[in-house]
Amino acid sequence: MPPYPDDLPRWREAARIASRARDLGVKLVVPGARRRDVADAIEAFVRDAGAEPAFPANLSRNDEAAHYTPSPDDTAVFDAGDLVKVDVGAHLEGAIADTADTVEAGGGHRHENLIRAARDGLRAGIQVVRPGVSIDEVSRAIAGAIRARGLKPVVDLTGHSIERYLLHAGKSIPNVPGHGDGSLNEGEIIAIEPFATNGAGSIRNGEFGNIVRFRRDPGSADPALARLYGRFRTLPFAVRWADAPEEREALRRARHTLQSYPVFVERGRGLVAQAEHTVLVGPTGAEVLSAPIPG
Ligand code: CO
Repeated sequence: MPPYPDDLPRWREAARIASRARDLGVKLVVPGARRRDVADAIEAFVRDAGAEPAFPANLSRNDEAAHYTPSPDDTAVFDAGDLVKVDVGAHLEGAIADTADTVEAGGGHRHENLIRAARDGLRAGIQVVRPGVSIDEVSRAIAGAIRARGLKPVVDLTGHSIERYLLHAGKSIPNVPGHGDGSLNEGEIIAIEPFATNGAGSIRNGEFGNIVRFRRDPGSADPALARLYGRFRTLPFAVRWADAPEEREALRRARHTLQSYPVFVERGRGLVAQAEHTVLVGPTGAEVLSAPIPG
């Protein structure tokens, strides 16, 4: 029997919620809007829909490729022309969906080719998904579509398999051929997420992106920490979600047991666009669980 999750309706529902939150975020990214308010609104939408964020709303801008979420005291606003990746995750009892789109704040068309390249890469990758396909074939399709627009796929950011409570499970799906191995199996859930850039085509670690994750259960010795682990398990969360002062303090004390995520910045300071869907490897091809990206 293929390893389908035994609660597929839950995965589909999580994907529906994540997609609507993604589209809400895209709409809210306008010049003058506070990044903090947009992230809060995306995450509130997910919670009001009965799910939990699978990771903090990522609102990386321009040459930031990924892993930026507002800090607790962030007052920055979007500027006209900012190229913003709205990357959203939702989960229902560990059934995770991960989806992203890119928007130009102010609705201009300066960055249209980049946005289209990421979406083209996503579509091309999804088209070749089927049971038994080599991951390299998916990567080749993604890279080909991005290069066809005269841009570069980002080599060191990849799609990934997803398992219950595990956003990045065992498999990576590179956006460039020659970097992945293995193949896809029927019943697997994967995120395909091409990044297109006009820069160097790779990333470096920037500053702390306000996102952390428990590497393991911290135990019950520190009650505030145990409470946080109960909420987030091993999924990434935002420092701003630990709202009680004793929780903030517990996080500071526990720094060594937490994984912290730097912002990924394009190595050549190029602009970066991203598009992402969560996909089920069905019997004859991909079933895209997240809703279509408008436009
Ligand atoms: Co992802």
